[in-house]
Amino acid sequence: MEEAEIPLDRLMEGRVSLLLCYPRFTREEAERRLEELRGLGVDAIILEGRHEVEGLKVLGKGHVSIAVEARVGDEVYALKIRRTDADRESFMDEAEKLGMANEVGVGPRLVRHTDNFLLMELIKGEYLPEWIEALGPGDAELLRGVLKGLLEKARKLDEIGLDHGELSRAHRHIIVSGGEPRLIDFESASTERRVSNITSLTQYLFINRRMRRLISRVLKPPEIQPLIEALKQYKREPSDENYRRILEVCSL
Ligand SMILES: Nc1ncnc2c1ncn2[C@@H]1O[C@H](COP(=O)(O)OP(=O)(O)O)[C@@H](O)[C@H]1O
Ligand SMILES: [Mg+2]
Repeated sequence: MEEAEIPLDRLMEGRVSLLLCYPRFTREEAERRLEELRGLGVDAIILEGRHEVEGLKVLGKGHVSIAVEARVGDEVYALKIRRTDADRESFMDEAEKLGMANEVGVGPRLVRHTDNFLLMELIKGEYLPEWIEALGPGDAELLRGVLKGLLEKARKLDEIGLDHGELSRAHRHIIVSGGEPRLIDFESASTERRVSNITSLTQYLFINRRMRRLISRVLKPPEIQPLIEALKQYKREPSDENYRRILEVCSL
């Protein structure tokens, strides 16, 4: 068993070095990345989280990165480590987009980044579907608040012209933390596309079968036809008024 917290100067001794340079480990690349990590000010990697990679606990694994907890002084952050097979050269673009989202209060707060690492606020909580699953019929108002909070965030991203890009299949990109919904992963975010945060998120929540069924256990979901109409209008003209119309149809 590996200890939960591995200081950087012991990183190369154990299996945790595999996470630094995943999935194609080479000692040279791992050593280079270790130096980069030192430069970020990271003191230790913490093996915690609900997922596993190479038998080690991690926060998550995506197509581009492995996310782990990292300690910097007394603070614990989330650290995204670029995979060796990622189709991105660096985290430059993601950091820029996350920074934009942060300006309107969305996304984990960006701390620092390099080509191979992105250090940000650690969001503790549960993925939205699991969070909803644990609710009872008496939690309608609680759920309504979280869904409304989510739409507000999507609206803010629409307003600044930043398309998140992964909100139509958001199972692992929404974490409910202390009663607040948080959007994560700005890896696919873009200012080049036409924004579709509100439409993608609403479809995911209320039209996607799995989510609609989950939500229905707690509160009455919106009628689909009026919702599609409201979304069409909003798509034509993403005004405040048309946004409010969507909230209304969703009883939020
Ligand atoms: N700031 C964070 N706080 C907590 N967990 C996170 C954070 N960022 C990412 N994760 C976890 O790591 C997983 C993979 O991260 P993600 O940003 O989706 O990587 P990728 O860009 O490779 O898809 C997420 O689904 C989530 O579980
Ligand atoms: Mg992801």
